[in-house]
Amino acid sequence: MVSFARSALATRWDPSHGSLLDLAEACDVPVRWSCRTGVCHNCQTTVVAGTVRYSPEPVDPPADGTVLICCAQPGEDLTLDL
Ligand code: FES
Repeated sequence: MVSFARSALATRWDPSHGSLLDLAEACDVPVRWSCRTGVCHNCQTTVVAGTVRYSPEPVDPPADGTVLICCAQPGEDLTLDL
């Protein structure tokens, strides 16, 4: 499950979504983005709970406790500050 804390919304992850950014957009969760390839950090989001994995790996990793949602997928049940 992926939960969007601010939006009070939770949904089941499906690999067909591609990235957490794609999933958030599909759920009408407000997101900021620019490059969608792990370069600009505009999509950087705080992880409330859970882990993520990256595909593709971001060029420059985000700060601890945050995730670049444009190139990340959930590693387990995940809660994002969105
Ligand atoms: S949109 Fe640029 S790093 Fe995610």
